[in-house]
Amino acid sequence: MSLKNKKILIVIGGGISAYKALDLIRLLKKNNVNIKTILTKSGKEFVTPLSVTTLTKNKTFEDIFDKNSEAEIDHISLSRWADLIVVLPTTANFMTKLSIGKAEDLATTVLLASDKDILLVPAMNVRMWLHKATQNNFRILQDYGYIFIGPEKGEMACGEYGEGKMSSPRQIYSYIKDYFDKKNLVIKKKFKALVTTGPTREYLDPVRYISNESSGKQGYEVALALRKLGIETKLISGPSNLIPFKDLKIKNIVSAKEMMCEVKKSLPVDIAVCTAAVSDFKPIYKSKNKIKKTDNRMNSIKFEKNPDILEFLCKSNKDRPKIVVGFCAETEKVIQNAKVKLREKYCDLIVANNVSNKNLGFNSDFNKVSIIDQTGKVISIPKNKKSYIANKIANIILDKLLINDKSIN
Ligand SMILES: Cc1cc2nc3c(=O)[nH]c(=O)nc-3n(C[C@H](O)[C@H](O)[C@H](O)COP(=O)(O)O)c2cc1C
Repeated sequence: MSLKNKKILIVIGGGISAYKALDLIRLLKKNNVNIKTILTKSGKEFVTPLSVTTLTKNKTFEDIFDKNSEAEIDHISLSRWADLIVVLPTTANFMTKLSIGKAEDLATTVLLASDKDILLVPAMNVRMWLHKATQNNFRILQDYGYIFIGPEKGEMACGEYGEGKMSSPRQIYSYIKDYFDKKNLVIKKKFKALVTTGPTREYLDPVRYISNESSGKQGYEVALALRKLGIETKLISGPSNLIPFKDLKIKNIVSAKEMMCEVKKSLPVDIAVCTAAVSDFKPIYKSKNKIKKTDNRMNSIKFEKNPDILEFLCKSNKDRPKIVVGFCAETEKVIQNAKVKLREKYCDLIVANNVSNKNLGFNSDFNKVSIIDQTGKVISIPKNKKSYIANKIANIILDKLLINDKSIN
């Protein structure tokens, strides 16, 4: 049902597993999926356009300079036509081309021009897969937002054993079905999310403030990832240099008090993700004018507690979001402290990171986090780009929301 009338563009690369693309096409066609295909020049060495066209009942595209489709620019129209693009097998060579943004033939040009989700299904010899160059490309492509299925461990066509074997057509089919099931449900349920990010500033006088080094990058990426999953997302951001993204509603605030006001205004939502590094305290007194250097030292600054936004969201009776996610930046006993925070605040998930390492967390493009749920289960995500980590977090949140939703209905 969920696959009926979906439009999938399949790019068939030049690997020994190319014949398995035909099995996948058959499975998808049985479920009334519309399929168009591109065969790369090497792909054509492994399967013929005739077999592919017979199964898809559509023309197989091969050439970027195709004299028979002058009316349309294929590399744009094919990408816009598709609901999803799948590349199988994704060869080592193809990964290299994508990682450097090549647009040298129809397949690579379509992918570069695409605004759709792209699933890559790698298949290659274990040494090719484990080669540093391929692993480097793998990381780059994950960061660019390509979604990988596999590879698996197993015996290969060349007789060797290890990681690099292509996922089976059944596994790929299941992934695609889950992908659309989730998409359909998100559209039907019209989920809404709010994400807080960045630092807050607490002013002492008109020009001086107490703040922290948060860049807002992680929250910004989480908001983008939720948006990409089809969830209407509002980002409430403290002062940052992030460039607004056209599809994302952003509300800029300065102080913790303003952030709290904006959060309250944004309710009700299904998901709240509190990544902002909100100042715990603010000066009780803000001088109307710039404080003068009249004395050799300032005697004292008195502080009072700021509102606790995470606690407010978790404990509110009326509009509590179905999933509240807290972030916990620690410099020691990271997991232990995060578990305490999760319990004390009553959040559903907590994302803990160690900010003592200058190359990770605050102001860095990289992060390394552990996601902890109420049962104490810890999912650790090793060091990676914040965009990659954000996609993982967004998917975990959505899965949890869908499970909760199922158990309620
Ligand atoms: C018999 C044969 C099997 C091959 N199998 C694979 C493979 O499974 N994975 C891979 O990455 N390359 C494989 N190659 C090498 C690719 O065909 C070659 O790198 C090609 O340029 C990839 O084309 P593409 O970028 O269009 O996918 C194979 C080559 C031959 C001759």
